[in-house]
Amino acid sequence: MNVYDSHRMALMLENMGYVETLDQHEADLVLFNTCHIREKAAEKLFSDLGRANLIKEERAAEGKKTIIGVTGCVVQAEDEQIAKRAPYVDFALGPLTYHRLPEMLLKIKRKHAETLIDTDFPPEAKFDFLPENRAEGGCSYLAVQEGCDNFCTYCVVPYTRGAEYSRPVEEVLAEARRLVATGTLEINILGQNVNSYHGEDAHGKERNLAYLLRRLAEIEGIKRLRYTTSYPADVDDDLIACHRDLEQLMPYLHLPVQSGSDKILKAMNRRHTSGQYLDVVARLKEANPKLEMSSDFIVGFPGETDKDFEQTLDLVRKIKYIQAFSFKYSRRAGTPAAVMENQVEEKVKKERLDILQNLLFSYQEQFNQASVGKVMPVLFEQYGRHKGQLIGRTPYMQNLHAKADESLLNHIVDVRVESATTNSLSGKVIL
Ligand code: 5AD
Ligand code: SF4
Repeated sequence: MNVYDSHRMALMLENMGYVETLDQHEADLVLFNTCHIREKAAEKLFSDLGRANLIKEERAAEGKKTIIGVTGCVVQAEDEQIAKRAPYVDFALGPLTYHRLPEMLLKIKRKHAETLIDTDFPPEAKFDFLPENRAEGGCSYLAVQEGCDNFCTYCVVPYTRGAEYSRPVEEVLAEARRLVATGTLEINILGQNVNSYHGEDAHGKERNLAYLLRRLAEIEGIKRLRYTTSYPADVDDDLIACHRDLEQLMPYLHLPVQSGSDKILKAMNRRHTSGQYLDVVARLKEANPKLEMSSDFIVGFPGETDKDFEQTLDLVRKIKYIQAFSFKYSRRAGTPAAVMENQVEEKVKKERLDILQNLLFSYQEQFNQASVGKVMPVLFEQYGRHKGQLIGRTPYMQNLHAKADESLLNHIVDVRVESATTNSLSGKVIL
């Protein structure tokens, strides 16, 4: 979501006449778009800000003015700390107010001395105020839903991105058509809880994610569709049927389970048990037998015992995820889990994370190895490290690099997989 938001902000700045530079010494404006999901992500901001301020001071000595701005979820949660710890920050905008970026920059040009902060949960939808979106390449994100009403006890999202909001169907379709017209072949539909999507259609009727996916699949030029991130308890029959019916919907689904222990899932306030999760996955795989899964995991949630952790490992052994993201539980101020008793020791969290990741990587590697010899359609998205090489993704989100002519960038091309590691594939283009 942050990549999507950053892209939309960059387009706004472009409309104001800004040009991107990769050299911070040249930048009149430095903007940090931030994440608050875990402590590490948030802390990184303050060290980055310190470095940016050194450059700001150097530039000031040369008579050049630098504006430093912060956007994203850290602003929503820690606006006062930003103003206090980094008073040289000129402005800060929350994730729901970044459409006010141009207005903010004008205010600063009128010489405000203090950090200007806007962390409203505004009544207007920012999407109505953003300039038209445009594809950056063959693969684009499209936010259709934002915020979350689930209140998992460890998570800051309901507090930073606010209550669930779904963009109207026609607005989403219009943005998708623009992305296709500017070169996109693959669209990844985004939302913190995307399968609770309930946007209004042209007649004011609420429609679900399955409806939206079917409408998107009708747009000529969309070759691939994905959606991220889904909540297991909200996977309905309509959505499952999309995996059976829609050729464009890729056979890879990110469906976070967090833990395999029902006791821990309950303490996390997740509305599903491990059994219900397994059942949803079975039904999805029945709809599309080629479907492979990905997930998020948290280890060391308060009260997690060795037995609970074993149950997570058991679930992984059953599903054999082909990719996964796993984290040590991070205590987030203001969330219910932060004040729970039975916090797990750091050492134990680390041990469990190592064990879990080893298991997850082994399945990821197995899947990648099993891809060797197969021909897969690859959407080439960027240049490789070596000259004459392109990097792209298979339908299963595996990174693949191959010798390929530049003209194949942003195209879907058949590639025979020749070798594999845990993290990537390499192959030969078949023309
Ligand atoms: N600590 C660790 N991981 C977290 N996540 C969300 N909140 C926390 C937290 N407090 C993880 C979840 C979620 C992913 C985006 O980040 O696994 O699915
Ligand atoms: Fe956070 Fe996802 Fe739970 Fe919502 S469903 S509270 S975004 S972890």
